Amino acid sequence: MRKKKARALITGITGQDGSYLSEYLLSLGYEVWGLVRRTSLDPLMRLSKSTGNKNLHLVYGNLRDSATLARALEEGKPHEIYNLAAQSDVAISFKCPEETFEVDYFGLGRLVNEAMKIVPKVRIYQASTSEMFGRTPPPQNERSPFRPVSPYGEAKLKAHEDFVVGYRKRHGLFICSGILFNHESPRRGEHFVTRKISISLAKIKLGVQKSFALGNLDAKRDWGFAGDYVRAMHLMLQQKKPDDYVVATGVTHSVRDFVEEVARALEMKITWKGEGLKEVGIDSYGNTIITVDKKFYRPHEVNALRGDPSKARKKLGWKPYVAFEELVQMMTRADYERLKKTL
Ligand code: GDD
Repeated sequence: MRKKKARALITGITGQDGSYLSEYLLSLGYEVWGLVRRTSLDPLMRLSKSTGNKNLHLVYGNLRDSATLARALEEGKPHEIYNLAAQSDVAISFKCPEETFEVDYFGLGRLVNEAMKIVPKVRIYQASTSEMFGRTPPPQNERSPFRPVSPYGEAKLKAHEDFVVGYRKRHGLFICSGILFNHESPRRGEHFVTRKISISLAKIKLGVQKSFALGNLDAKRDWGFAGDYVRAMHLMLQQKKPDDYVVATGVTHSVRDFVEEVARALEMKITWKGEGLKEVGIDSYGNTIITVDKKFYRPHEVNALRGDPSKARKKLGWKPYVAFEELVQMMTRADYERLKKTL
């Protein structure tokens, strides 16, 4: 840790990862600047734990607007930048490919170019993604080929190639890609599958919802805890040289497994009947509580992700502490208790 008070700029500070990372950096004694979009709905909710912290400064701006990035950089003069802002919804990226490229690709370009002018010695963390592996079979590590299948995966890969690998080589920029596999928490956005399941089953258990629909139940993901993953982001920027790291648990589960684990946490039992679009999940009273709907299928699916985090373990000394079962319990308990209070 540097002797002078370290300063960090986080784009996407109001998201799941931004909120955990800002809390973590503040706990390490950092002064943190967070870029906040004016359009965000109640953007400051997730930051409530840090509200009033004199070391947290919020600046309005976004990745579409270089002038706002320049202003944030001038104001914060950060030693470290964490670029977490993104159009991060894979399904939406098929519907809004231009918007996705605008933010996830050109946005990083604007940020690094402004950073090189204003804070040339800065260290940058880029939120890359396992979605870049696409069709490459698991386990995936830093040497695995990238074969993205979504506009989101494409935009993130192009950003990685041009502005991380490219700028590191051409301009000597200290920039790292964290190739993060899915990471969840009670703060996860409600349209991602894990949170959708924990909220829906908690509502069914409380008797305020009858059923819900999902897409591909057999997709497999390597799900870890977001709170663990932000430590890896920070560690990457403390190394002598910039590099790219896979951050994952190394364990994979299907969407169906996730449903069953949430049900277990709520002391519910689910029996599956039928196949494909006709498959249903039935509770112990014989009620159909889960159906499958084509509209939640992706035009192109990444069938299976399982990361090999050996490099992060060896070089960063990083490991995840929260295992799958604990993560599911944490999310389910949080949603169940929160919803119970609203009844
Ligand atoms: N969202 C959603 N809703 N996904 C569903 C549903 C549903 O009703 N039913 C099945 N799925 C499947 C998706 O098809 C996918 O295979 C899996 O559940 C996980 O979907 P998401 O939770 O939306 O996450 P993701 O894997 O597409 O993307 C997340 O992880 C990436 C890292 O690999 C996002 O956080 C990305 O931003 C991130 O980069």
